[in-house]
Amino acid sequence: MKATAIANANIALVKYWGKRNKELILPFNSSISMTCDGLHTKTTVDFSGSYGKDTVLINDEELKKDEKNIMAHIERIRQMAGITDKAKIISESNFPVAAGLASSASGLAALTLAASKAAGLNLNEKELTILSRLGSGSASRSIPEGFVEWHHGEKEDGSDSFAESIASKSHWPEFRMLACIVSEARKPVGSRAGMAQTVDNCPYYEGWLKTVNDDIAAVKKGIAERNFTLVGSTAEKNTLKMHALMMTTTPAIIYWIPQTLEIMHSVMLWREEGLESYFTIDGGPQVKVICLQKDEKEILSRLSSLDCVIRAINCPPGGGAQLSNSHLF
Ligand code: PMV
Repeated sequence: MKATAIANANIALVKYWGKRNKELILPFNSSISMTCDGLHTKTTVDFSGSYGKDTVLINDEELKKDEKNIMAHIERIRQMAGITDKAKIISESNFPVAAGLASSASGLAALTLAASKAAGLNLNEKELTILSRLGSGSASRSIPEGFVEWHHGEKEDGSDSFAESIASKSHWPEFRMLACIVSEARKPVGSRAGMAQTVDNCPYYEGWLKTVNDDIAAVKKGIAERNFTLVGSTAEKNTLKMHALMMTTTPAIIYWIPQTLEIMHSVMLWREEGLESYFTIDGGPQVKVICLQKDEKEILSRLSSLDCVIRAINCPPGGGAQLSNSHLF
């Protein structure tokens, strides 16, 4: 009744922003991501210690009271397995948590795999993506490897809203996501509250839904054909559309800080000079620069010369979530 799992973060190329069902975490639109080698969370779950209460330690800190979805997720897995034992959980990520680097995705995916295994459930990949989705939507995309599509699904029970790999990590090993950390502070508005507010009152949400399927089709075609310009330009446009939604909801959500804009402008300038790269940004100030391996050295060197970049993590396409024999306790 003890298991350890490692899951990589994923960065969306076509974003998920808005739920059609908040309880079951069912999205309005499908999304596509790359699982990132280099940004991971490792989690050990133990149900066998006759613990008096659940304890969760994330990066050496006791779980905050506001992270209710983690407790609810453990309870959900216990109920599925028909057990009542309390858990001890230790989780470690190798990158800043809750600042827009998809820590909830790798965290909830690792927790889902470790806790379901420790509770005696033997779920297949599709079932794991559905269960992870209930913890945090984007976590569903951290279970499969490489390039991943999370299908929005049609059914009310969520059984067709799952994630699957649309290309393995070896399909396009030259693809790179350079995750630039510009601030280690926690983000001001969580994605859950932010997207609910956007669906409720952003006047442009319909426009997003009208165009997002074209972005999905373009990115899928681009990945299949390894067409970097098509994938990069569509991902950048999709990011800007999502942030336009965030900025035009009431009250406005602006995740960008001056450092974010400095990198965005730099990437656009480098592109004009012939160094092809694109940016993507999630619910936080960090910028992920998309490029190909042949340009990574030059772009990393240019990024490190910008004062605003604290550090850049170089991520090729990564593997899916895995069990591990080396427990954290
Ligand atoms: O699953 P959540 O609640 O962490 O939402 C993720 C939302 C974005 O990162 C902004 C977009 C995405 O598709 O990953």
